[in-house]
Amino acid sequence: MKPIKFVSADEAVKVVKSGDHVHFSSVSAYPVILGEALARRGDTGELKDVRIHHLHTEGDAPYTHEKYNGVFFTQSFFVGANVRKDTQSGWADYIPVFLRETQKLYRSGVLPCDVAMIQVSPVDKHGYVSLGTSVDATLAAVECAKTVIAVMNPNVPRAWGNSIIPADVVDIWVEDDTPLTPAKPAEPNDVDLKIGEYVAELVEDGACLQMGIGAIPNAVLARLGNHKNLGVHTEMFSDGLLPLIKSGVVNGLNKRYRRGRIVSTFLMGTKELYDFIDDNPGIYMTDVKYSNDPQVIGKNPKVCAINSALQIDLTGQVCADSIGTKFYSGVGGQIDFVDGANLSEGGKAIIAMPSITAKGISKISPTLTEGAGVVTTRNHIHYVVTENGAVDLYGKSLQERAKLLIKVAHPSAQEELDRAAFERFGPHYMAINI
Ligand code: COA
Repeated sequence: MKPIKFVSADEAVKVVKSGDHVHFSSVSAYPVILGEALARRGDTGELKDVRIHHLHTEGDAPYTHEKYNGVFFTQSFFVGANVRKDTQSGWADYIPVFLRETQKLYRSGVLPCDVAMIQVSPVDKHGYVSLGTSVDATLAAVECAKTVIAVMNPNVPRAWGNSIIPADVVDIWVEDDTPLTPAKPAEPNDVDLKIGEYVAELVEDGACLQMGIGAIPNAVLARLGNHKNLGVHTEMFSDGLLPLIKSGVVNGLNKRYRRGRIVSTFLMGTKELYDFIDDNPGIYMTDVKYSNDPQVIGKNPKVCAINSALQIDLTGQVCADSIGTKFYSGVGGQIDFVDGANLSEGGKAIIAMPSITAKGISKISPTLTEGAGVVTTRNHIHYVVTENGAVDLYGKSLQERAKLLIKVAHPSAQEELDRAAFERFGPHYMAINI
């Protein structure tokens, strides 16, 4: 192994040149001190037109702000909370891409990767480090980058799987012992827990779970305590899964791909979660190319893909990335797992969401709001769950779908939705009895 010499973060980021593309590790593996040092370098006036790419990152993203116009331009693969305001106002931008293909952007050369900035666990006795909570597109960035800068941090869990890389691939080392920025799981409210109950009724013993982002996944997990032999093949998970692993409800024994292990590509949670995955061979962190490949996902029986939505129209078109023209998040892995569930023997693709927002807007609407994009198409959709029940749209006609969706819409919105369906489909709609 090459000898390791540490330099300061400010020294390390001097390698970045004008016009470079920089990749950051995701979630809590985002190397905060490199992000801050890069922003300081931006203040010197030495840099221009540096592009920054990443998935969801935790903590501040100073380089996206308006003051760096012409210096840095963030083009993220997912719009997390720290870049949302700047993306919506145009100071940062978003690249729509299936999560499974984020790695391909680098490996195919569609996006160059000049500098990969990552955060890793300490070197083990064999000369390897772990990418910890972010393998996703970060492994591909490390493979493709001209220069890899790594922050070695003892708080980064030594996650197993494709996360283990030789320390020798790192060109510049920085050390830090700051605790990882936690991603505090959303606390489910009564509505979320009701949704969790309906989803749990759809999850059979022996099912293989994928849970998306937001409060709903934790609400579902909280309702699965009496299930048996569940498995997990997902793109991410959070603290809500830990009780089910510890109680043995999740044992992975019914899986056919990586039986007995949990597969994920990134993780978002608290120190408790990161401590749990440290040196844990039961958690297999994999390249997003495999975790999110529908063919791989579909090898497991009874895949339950549980994702959420911002809006669903009466034909079953799902918007999950924007509120009208304003980007709120991204396509993420929703379609990767909807496809995977549809390929799985006994699989179920489930979209679960509250029927109404806190501001009283019905999330089931006659049409999508102007500017909203479709993430899960009306051809992909199967189950829709709200606090008012669960319906299966698969194989149902447009008029039948409208009737079913209105059943699970918020009572205050049902009359208007029914009127809109009648105007759209005509008198025959009234005769549909489902
Ligand atoms: N019209 C207007 N505003 C709406 C709305 C609608 N139909 N639906 C939601 N909102 C607002 C909410 O009021 C809330 O506003 P706030 O931030 O001011 O409180 C905000 O949008 C977020 O809604 P919420 O229901 O709390 O979202 P969530 O945290 O449960 O996340 C998704 C839901 C769809 C955004 C999330 O699952 C996601 O990002 N999905 C991406 C695709 C995916 O599923 N990938 C796979 C897993 S990563």
